[in-house]
Amino acid sequence: MADDILDRFKEGDEETAEVDTGKKLKIGIIGTGWIAEAHIAAYVRCPDIEIVAMADLIPGKVEKFCKKMGIPVPHVYPDHASMIDNEELDAVSVCTYNRTHAECSIYALEHGVNVLCEKPMCVTLEEAVEMRRAEKKSGKILSIGFQPRLDGNMKMIKKIVESGELGKIYYIQTGGGRRHGIPTPYGTTFIEDETAGIGALADIGCYSLDMLLNAVGYPKPLTVTGYKSAYFGTDPSYYPTHPEYAEKFGVDDFAAAFVRLEGDIILDFRIAWAMHMDTCGDALILGTKGGLRIPSTECWNGTIGGPLVLYHDVAGVQTQTVIPPEEKDTGDLFYKKIRSFLDACKNGDKAPVPTEEIIYNQAIIDGIVRSANCGREVEINVPEV
Ligand SMILES: NC(=O)c1ccc[n+]([C@@H]2O[C@H](COP(=O)([O-])OP(=O)(O)OC[C@H]3O[C@@H](n4cnc5c(N)ncnc54)[C@H](O)[C@@H]3O)[C@@H](O)[C@H]2O)c1
Repeated sequence: MADDILDRFKEGDEETAEVDTGKKLKIGIIGTGWIAEAHIAAYVRCPDIEIVAMADLIPGKVEKFCKKMGIPVPHVYPDHASMIDNEELDAVSVCTYNRTHAECSIYALEHGVNVLCEKPMCVTLEEAVEMRRAEKKSGKILSIGFQPRLDGNMKMIKKIVESGELGKIYYIQTGGGRRHGIPTPYGTTFIEDETAGIGALADIGCYSLDMLLNAVGYPKPLTVTGYKSAYFGTDPSYYPTHPEYAEKFGVDDFAAAFVRLEGDIILDFRIAWAMHMDTCGDALILGTKGGLRIPSTECWNGTIGGPLVLYHDVAGVQTQTVIPPEEKDTGDLFYKKIRSFLDACKNGDKAPVPTEEIIYNQAIIDGIVRSANCGREVEINVPEV
């Protein structure tokens, strides 16, 4: 399933927009695993960049990666710091596992380099605060890799909320689930605590949180009651060909939470990498004038799972309006993510997916982990940066 998800990102039929190739941005890639493939596939469509360097902790991995991608081997480094120290870079893609997002991003920003960091932003709220501090101090851009936001249907959800059609929003329900989808296509970096830090909650949970929080304007989270478990990931029978993965599994495969947000909004959330159910339910937005149903996605290919349905009263009659979905364009979401980041770097614009919003996404994830660990509701305090 995981390969299938990535394959959707690979093809793209959108014409490459006209860009100024007068100055080529020098790009470095940190981490040459699975997701770096999607970054490279998008970068090679951008005529105004050159990939000058790549770093990976695993010796020989960069060379193999370049061969697989059919691109020349650039300067190769054994880690992010030696690459940043030795190259004049304009920007880096941080394509490492979650545990090293913060250190790689902060190091790059401290050396005056713009950063596109893969999702989730990091592992803890403390790291997210440090990343944002480094970004602000540097005057450079730190954008977080939430490409589903760039899908036309996701934008439509936000447009509907902003139109006022739903009235005052008081409840949002989001989440997603796979019946059998613990991501181990290329090894165990997603499931080990020392590389991933958090499981389904951060991997796909961050997307479903972003879908609705972005739509309703990212209200500040205040308190959370969270739960997480790992019944499937720790069961050797889950992996018939790799029962040893169960021993390595050190994260969550299911999480649920009830979060209070500023503005008297309740967020009801659940996410699963594995469960005995086909879906955790559709996403819902309830407002005083209307409600919106967003059919569950295939968790997560970046789009919605079917037409949006608006529930509202028209002249006193309970009515449902189906909003026709836009053509699925998942193939281009990675290109759009990279292109919008490069344009922001060149024009000195705001980051396309800014940390001032995603810090709340990370704060909720951090709060769910803290609450689950202590077994009660906890406060969420996001320091001003
Ligand atoms: N946006 C998306 O659709 C999407 C999809 C899949 C994964 N991701 C995210 O991408 C990230 C990476 O996932 P992946 O599957 O490619 O992981 P991976 O384990 O396949 O690759 C990560 C690579 O980073 C390298 N690395 C780690 N720390 C490093 C450092 N300090 N310097 C240099 N190299 C370093 C590792 O050696 C490894 O080769 C994860 O955070 C994941 O959540 C995003």
